[in-house]
Amino acid sequence: MVMQTAPTLEAIRYKKGSLEILDQLLLPFATVFEQVKGVEDGHRVIKTMKVRGAPAIAIVAALSLAVELHSTALVGKLSTAPSIQEFVHSKLEYLKTSRPTAVNLFEAAGRLDGLVARAATVANATAQSVASAYIDAAEAMLQKDIEDNHNIGRFGTEYVLKHKPQTQAEVQVLTHCNTGSLATAGWGTALGIIRDLHASGNLAHAYCTETRPYNQGSRLTAYELVYENIPATLICDDMASALLARKPITAIIVGADRVAANGDTANKIGTYQLAITAQYHNVLFIVAAPSTSIDLLTASGKDIPIEERAAVEVVQIRGPSVQENASTTVQIAAPGIGVWNPAFDVTPASLISAIVTEKGVCVKKPGSDVFDLKDFLS
Ligand code: MRU
Repeated sequence: MVMQTAPTLEAIRYKKGSLEILDQLLLPFATVFEQVKGVEDGHRVIKTMKVRGAPAIAIVAALSLAVELHSTALVGKLSTAPSIQEFVHSKLEYLKTSRPTAVNLFEAAGRLDGLVARAATVANATAQSVASAYIDAAEAMLQKDIEDNHNIGRFGTEYVLKHKPQTQAEVQVLTHCNTGSLATAGWGTALGIIRDLHASGNLAHAYCTETRPYNQGSRLTAYELVYENIPATLICDDMASALLARKPITAIIVGADRVAANGDTANKIGTYQLAITAQYHNVLFIVAAPSTSIDLLTASGKDIPIEERAAVEVVQIRGPSVQENASTTVQIAAPGIGVWNPAFDVTPASLISAIVTEKGVCVKKPGSDVFDLKDFLS
């Protein structure tokens, strides 16, 4: 482990042959970067949620294999193009077993697998040329994600300002979970829009939910908002309807782990109830995600696999430890109680005002309850 204070907020530090991730289980109590030496480490940090957020999961998975492939010892051991191809394929299959809901991991694995298969069949392909093709493509994901996030921020800001009530000079927004620099290669998706609204002088105030049970809101989003000096207030998850009833909230803006072809959206547990309260209060409900979060092969939300996590995340809370740079857990529920802990829920397309991607904003056709994302992406 490398102990460091981050000069800028970043969750992924990569240079050829070296990958470090910010351990998000320790935030906001300690800033500790952990080395990811290969696929085993990559799988473990994703499964244990030291790294989380759909884009970050895909990028760390891809880069963990890039780091492993960069080791000359490996390319020496696997000396032919087909042996590297087979190695990449089996490692990507393994990485796909880390977390099931965010489709970005599956999209990246499928794309990289196909790219390597093509690189292995060109004339004069060598182990080194196939490994390099993989590494270059995995590395490109970092820059592409940051660019996509800035475009999402721009399109999302335009959409919010165009659709806000005329009576509001500046907007107030509510967000859920964490979709910022910590969940991506940088800037963020839903939080990227909020940062963009703030940077352009259009944000009066941001609210973030606590996001039980993992507390991505109170630990991570609150940390990012404070870090960025964005005027912001934390609420518990059960205060959202009261907030919408009492304050002039312009929009609820959330991220996505998987958007089905009809726009049904899997996102952090609690998103669905926010969409219901947004509709009741006539507040915009915006999903912000890169197009890699759109799964055209999944027709509707009922086919999205929903991860269920351990009971311990609900019955215990995490806090700072007396030991520096560590955290500890405290039991908060009656021992012996049963627990259901789905990590995500599905918001029906009918409750979503717009889906903002790096390619633009997708809205429903007049009179339709669903989005046509196939048409949008074509
Ligand atoms: O369980 P997590 O923390 O990985 O869930 C994260 C979310 O639900 C985010 O909203 C989503 O991945 C988008 S991150 C840009």
